[in-house]
Amino acid sequence: MIAAYQARCQARVDLALENLFVAPSEELQRLYEAMRYSVMNGGKRVRPLLVYAACQALGVEPERANGAACAVELIHAYSLVHDDLPAMDDDDLRRGQPTTHKAFDEACAILAGDGLQSLAFSALLDPTLSPQSEAIRLQMVQVLAKAAGPAGMVGGQAIDLGSVGKKLDQQALEFMHRHKTGALIEASVRLGALASEQAENDELKALQTYARAVGLAFQVQDDILDVESDTATLGKRQGADIARDKPTYPALLGLEAAKLYALELRDQALHALRPFNSAAEPLRDLARFVVERRS
Ligand code: IPE
Ligand code: IPE
Ligand code: MG
Ligand code: MG
Ligand code: MG
Repeated sequence: MIAAYQARCQARVDLALENLFVAPSEELQRLYEAMRYSVMNGGKRVRPLLVYAACQALGVEPERANGAACAVELIHAYSLVHDDLPAMDDDDLRRGQPTTHKAFDEACAILAGDGLQSLAFSALLDPTLSPQSEAIRLQMVQVLAKAAGPAGMVGGQAIDLGSVGKKLDQQALEFMHRHKTGALIEASVRLGALASEQAENDELKALQTYARAVGLAFQVQDDILDVESDTATLGKRQGADIARDKPTYPALLGLEAAKLYALELRDQALHALRPFNSAAEPLRDLARFVVERRS
């Protein structure tokens, strides 16, 4: 079920994304090529899937959430391009290909990341991708700006880089993960719900509880895979966290306890969806996928 659903959603978001990388002039070919390279390279598209699944859980067709789906993937892709730079995690491999700064050059990768961030907000505000009322679109922009910025992903990345070689306690590690990864995942679910224009307050609260658990579980599983997967399956270098002495859940709790924690978070996410009917099945599948995935 998840594989077919995933393929449908990937095709939908990829179709919308593809149109964003047409260079408006000859001089900008290389920059647009670098942005395209960073996005259209086989990511799992988990964040767009969460957008679509949240919209559908509220009984609305997922096409109405295309703007939000593109926007979260563009922010995510930008975060990866910058995360891989020598000044940050210094990684050479991403999604099975050379990282953007390796395939192009560092300056180009920095600018491609900057460009992707701007494109995210244009896509979110484009009425053909986001057919919602202006008031809803404005709310969506605010949600994404907060999640992507210094109180969200960027803040989490700052904590991450400031913590290398330090021993964080579980509270500090959770704080970091909730920012660097959880914030954008929470925003994805929120944006899908907003795009539906149908969400009641209690439904938004339940979806937020779900998304908080999934967001943390996602990074816990990412940390686990760094330990026990392999480079070919991951499409990024296995063991990179260990080599760089990054604070991770397996480093703090041990591998087995980290796995149990990921399962506990999955169960919390599923529990939060109790009030929802079968329309929330894709969201339930995604909670399971996040902790069962091998890449
Ligand atoms: C990797 O994200 C970076 C994290 C935030 C943990 P994904 O595992 O979603 O990467 P892609 O998009 O599938 O490559
Ligand atoms: C990245 O976390 C989170 C981002 C905001 C990009 P990681 O540094 O663990 O992501 P990977 O393992 O390189 O994909
Ligand atoms: Mg990192
Ligand atoms: Mg990294
Ligand atoms: Mg990682």
